[in-house]
Amino acid sequence: MESIIGSKIKKMLPLLMTLLSMCLLFAQKKYSGFDPGAIWEDTEGLHINAHGGGMTIVGDTYYWFGEHKVKGGRGNQSWVGVRVYSSKDLYNWKNEGVALTVKKDPASLLIEGSVIERPKVIYNEKNKNYVMWFHHELKGQGYDAALVGVAVSDSVTGPYEYLKSFRMHPKVWPLNFSEEQKKHAIEKSKEKLKWGEGSVHGVYFLRDFEIGQMSRDMTLFKDDDGTAYHITASEENGTLIISKLTDDYLSLSNEYVRIFPGGNNEAPAIFKQNGKYYMITSGLTGWKPNPARSAVASNMFGPWKSLGNPVRGTEEEKATTFKSQSTYIFPVVGRKNAFVFMADRWTPQNAIDGRYIWLPIEFEGDNPIIKWYSNWNLSFFDSKK
Ligand code: GAL
Repeated sequence: MESIIGSKIKKMLPLLMTLLSMCLLFAQKKYSGFDPGAIWEDTEGLHINAHGGGMTIVGDTYYWFGEHKVKGGRGNQSWVGVRVYSSKDLYNWKNEGVALTVKKDPASLLIEGSVIERPKVIYNEKNKNYVMWFHHELKGQGYDAALVGVAVSDSVTGPYEYLKSFRMHPKVWPLNFSEEQKKHAIEKSKEKLKWGEGSVHGVYFLRDFEIGQMSRDMTLFKDDDGTAYHITASEENGTLIISKLTDDYLSLSNEYVRIFPGGNNEAPAIFKQNGKYYMITSGLTGWKPNPARSAVASNMFGPWKSLGNPVRGTEEEKATTFKSQSTYIFPVVGRKNAFVFMADRWTPQNAIDGRYIWLPIEFEGDNPIIKWYSNWNLSFFDSKK
């Protein structure tokens, strides 16, 4: 008797399995738009784990890299590494695994428990490889190290090989630091300054001249001609430094500028439209949101002109950038002048729960602006033509 039932079940097994997988397929959420601030599930039903993210486009596929966070406050350190997802429609994301893994080896600077933030990946045509840059803080040292890290891979999804972490431009002067500014900075170094004044006067810059400049919140920007730039919050987050990368994208060249000294800009995100470079940044309040800023330039090395807060909306939205902080801006494949602003709504007490705020970039005259849309999709850009 038992064996008859057993063999019947055995026979039905393939059918049962097909039914089960069909059920799972139907249960899977299929997105057809963006819902900023909501839980955003990947194709396996898990909240996407790619904070402080960046976007790399290969053909018609988007790769979203970001910080893999874990539960609780300890999630602000890196226990896994950098995760990557792929998508062709920007709404539905497949988990492609861990692109850069933290190390167990205590001799490695990339040991688990160090801080890896804001990873960005660009493709290097010369070496036919993908290069990842990220903000790196050493284990147990808070945010004191202020290093930038580099990793490389032949495949976009990795695994990325960790190469190095370093302070920027030791003993190298920027292109825009005149003899007069140098003298002024030396004089001001003798005074007792209030916190923050050091970056206005170039005092922090001089302080770090020998050991190299700090690098915290950062992004990469690859120009149409293949020149790539690293843009980062330096000098105690007071001044932005923009550096040209070497041809292989593995190092900083000696060409760099300081911009908005003492402007306290963080979280830089850059895009280029009609030959102009636009930058959106945040102010300096840690995980807490603050009003965004924007700027424009005809050349990456400046001069950069401030355009003020790009957010349009309620007073609260303007004051908090929709309770978020910028991380990246990317172009939509196949659409002209269509850019998406990516930002993080941080939840430092439970880091893994951080939410993603993606909104379309709009223009008011020549100024990029951002408005809130609780439900939107790419057809938004059709109406803007
Ligand atoms: C923010 C920064 C984040 C993270 C945080 C730590 O200002 O944008 O990436 O570094 O501070 O407090």
